[in-house]
Amino acid sequence: MTITTCIFDAYGTLFDVTAAAREAAAEPGREGLAKIWPTLAENWRLKQLQYSWLRAVTGQYTDFWQVTEDGLDWAMEAADLNDPDLRDRLLALYWELSAFPEVPTMLQQLKDAGLTAAILSNGSPEMLAGAVKSAGLNDLLEDSLSVESVGNFKPDARVYDLVGHRFSCAPSQVLFVSSNGWDASAAASYGFTTAWVNRAGDPVDRLPGKPHHILTDLSGVPDLAASC
Ligand code: LAC
Repeated sequence: MTITTCIFDAYGTLFDVTAAAREAAAEPGREGLAKIWPTLAENWRLKQLQYSWLRAVTGQYTDFWQVTEDGLDWAMEAADLNDPDLRDRLLALYWELSAFPEVPTMLQQLKDAGLTAAILSNGSPEMLAGAVKSAGLNDLLEDSLSVESVGNFKPDARVYDLVGHRFSCAPSQVLFVSSNGWDASAAASYGFTTAWVNRAGDPVDRLPGKPHHILTDLSGVPDLAASC
């Protein structure tokens, strides 16, 4: 069946989650951070995701902003950083993460081709609205679907159900794009056609669903959507 709807994960896929730590490290007076920001960013992301999964399986859902703060607190303590001003700055930067450079052109190409493009994310509606606005993507995305209405995180299948409910499409009409291997895997098991954006050249996750396509960035999405 032809693809009508392209659904994007937000954090790590459209928005560069390492940008907050990288940009803070480049600011005057943060020379200490300059050496360790990649580890801080990696631990922050890892703990944010782990906390989302653990809260999902234990029925302790809270919004994604809380797990983002909790993940940062763990990562800062692991790096021996006790700096409330830095914490505030990193969280402020997370609210306005940059999109990857190819994102506006790619979304414009999807729009020109008459395809629906939208976000499906763990992010709270407020976080997603902030990121979409600061990246200037408002006119290129039909909607930002948040897990908040489900009250649980990905990869709960009820989160993927939001796409069909919102756009009245079958899973086979959806190209789901994520940089998270586990998200692409779950979406493939759900029945979406999936593209895993593997910028780092990581191994494929050993999970039941396998991504149908593997890309190195997002620029190939319009051609892929046209050829599926
Ligand atoms: C999201 C996380 C998983 O945007 O990146 O849903």
